[in-house]
Amino acid sequence: MRSKELLLADFPILDQSIHGQALVYLDNAATTQKPMAVLRASRHYYETINSNIHRGTHQLARAATEAFENARQTIATHLHATTPDEVIFTSGTTGGINLVANILSLSGKIGPGDEVLISTLEHHSNIVPWQMLCQRTGAILKIIPCHDDGTLDQESFRSQLSQGNVKILAVTWISNAFGTVNPVAELTRAAKQAGAIVLIDAAQSIAHLPVDVQTLGADFLAFSGHKIYAPTGIGVLWGRAELLNELPPWQGGGEMIKEVTFEHTTYNELPFKYEAGTPNIEGAIVLGAAFDYVNGIGIDAIHAHEGALIRSAAAALSDISGIRFYGPANRSGSLSFNIDGIHHYDLGTLLDQMGVAVRTGHHCCQPLMARFGTTGTVRASFALYNTESDIEVFANATKKAVGMLR
Ligand code: ALA
Repeated sequence: MRSKELLLADFPILDQSIHGQALVYLDNAATTQKPMAVLRASRHYYETINSNIHRGTHQLARAATEAFENARQTIATHLHATTPDEVIFTSGTTGGINLVANILSLSGKIGPGDEVLISTLEHHSNIVPWQMLCQRTGAILKIIPCHDDGTLDQESFRSQLSQGNVKILAVTWISNAFGTVNPVAELTRAAKQAGAIVLIDAAQSIAHLPVDVQTLGADFLAFSGHKIYAPTGIGVLWGRAELLNELPPWQGGGEMIKEVTFEHTTYNELPFKYEAGTPNIEGAIVLGAAFDYVNGIGIDAIHAHEGALIRSAAAALSDISGIRFYGPANRSGSLSFNIDGIHHYDLGTLLDQMGVAVRTGHHCCQPLMARFGTTGTVRASFALYNTESDIEVFANATKKAVGMLR
């Protein structure tokens, strides 16, 4: 990993005080900070090539189109996609999952009595679109439960699959709330053998783990740019070309068409079939720059660094009496906990007073919180720029806050 000095130079936002204390930013599962390489790419786009894409014959339009398609290629390479046509730019993970749920609803592939299997660990964005699909198609939403350690109950998963009605498996790779890493390749293999279409929510894994869609074997994978050091409002849905070619379009408009008359429209090929309207051009280009930045450091090095930090954080907090950690010890990205007799919100507020940014609450996972009998947790979540000294500040601040609240 780069030195703390170099990382601070890369992420100027981190070099500031909050309430008179040096900022320790541990809310990376909510959104990551943006490196200078990303900020420069954004500025460069607007200062030099801002233009609409795939439409104009002029020089700026050609340059913007080339930069946009280069970004698609960078992302396709990172994901090991067969072709860049499988990379659809979206507004984020939520946009990607809603796109898939909508085109599957329209496809005629899902009908009454079919089952959509999700897990207890899902974020609302991987629950609600499937509930909406079920309302439209008559399909039934089924849930893979989880054990007390926050891992999935694979016996129940296999037993539900064996009933033969599961048509869709939609599952998160890493839980945003608990940091549980699901064995998505294994789950996918079993679901594909049972004839299901598989979507992986990679919102939390994209910045922490290498992704190879060939090895995963799923049909769809969705993530957001802002979780991997790019801006909000841009994301990617990767989909298997063969399936996307078969499925109907969703949103109609410019760019997704081949020919329009008032009587009939023919649709464009991938990826444009699913990119109606002027996309977030700057966002896509800058997302490419974010992947270049991450790959310049190395996703394996990032994963090892963050793994060491998360273990240090758990160890540093473990002597607080009444602390309960959620999720298994080999968690990734996030460390979630509660302390007996202390409300997560009160602890989060005091941590903020001491310059430490964490998220508190249900983390958009109300069913998961209900399963664990709580309204929320305190969640510290990690990124490549966090350091052991951040962990020390965080642990000391937590202990001080506990002393004040007890
Ligand atoms: N999904 C984001 C989080 O977990 C917003 O905080």
